[in-house]
Amino acid sequence: MAENKGSQDSRVSGSEGRSNPQTPEPPSLLTIYVMGKAYEVPKGLTIMKAMEYAGYQFIRGCGCRGGFCGACGTVYRTESSYKVKVGLACQTEVEDGMYLVQLPFYPATKAKYDIEELKATTQTLVRCSPEIMRCISCNSCTKICPQDIDVMGYVNAAIRGDYDRVADLSFDCIMCGLCASRCPAEIVQYNVALLARRIAGAKLQKRSPHLQERLKEIEAGKFGDGLKKLMAASAEELSKMFYDKEVRDIEPA
Ligand code: FES
Repeated sequence: MAENKGSQDSRVSGSEGRSNPQTPEPPSLLTIYVMGKAYEVPKGLTIMKAMEYAGYQFIRGCGCRGGFCGACGTVYRTESSYKVKVGLACQTEVEDGMYLVQLPFYPATKAKYDIEELKATTQTLVRCSPEIMRCISCNSCTKICPQDIDVMGYVNAAIRGDYDRVADLSFDCIMCGLCASRCPAEIVQYNVALLARRIAGAKLQKRSPHLQERLKEIEAGKFGDGLKKLMAASAEELSKMFYDKEVRDIEPA
């Protein structure tokens, strides 16, 4: 969630006090409305940077800043269209006359399960998320997905119990929750996909021999001393270990 440090009743210019004498041309400004309040911000910023420029501070709703973590789902409208649009705040550029609000989280229930006990049957996903049977194939979830995932396609695959297909179609999901925000059947699509991927990985897909080998090594305590050394290292030593190619033991390509 972002907090605004500015005043509540005035139009705020985010450029105040920021002029740089070495920059001859001031940035061209455009107006955005965050939760109904107007701010002037430089053109070309992402929504996230524009909000920070306007004085908001991200406590929730911001993670990787690179389009991977899904923390920054944002809903907006523009003056030229009645349509509700969505995007990731860290990836979407501001437009003049944009009305927006960030959704750091959209309410989503998640089934409790013990993965060891679940079987990869047609019924499992339906039992854990019975609401998937309410899908009316309106495709709103697919249209809203900022990752261009065929969300409706994987929900339909989940209904058929086709775990591999769900895992395949949903692989790029970053769990921003925007699909769940638009679903008239109130499905929490990304949690269905997460469970399907877990089951596919645990029960259906081939075991990786390398992973089995590594697990045995971990159980035998092969990495215990190395782990202790890392835990005891200072930030400076850790940084050297990570960045210094002479020190770091990198697996060959
Ligand atoms: S901050 Fe991680 S996707 Fe935007």
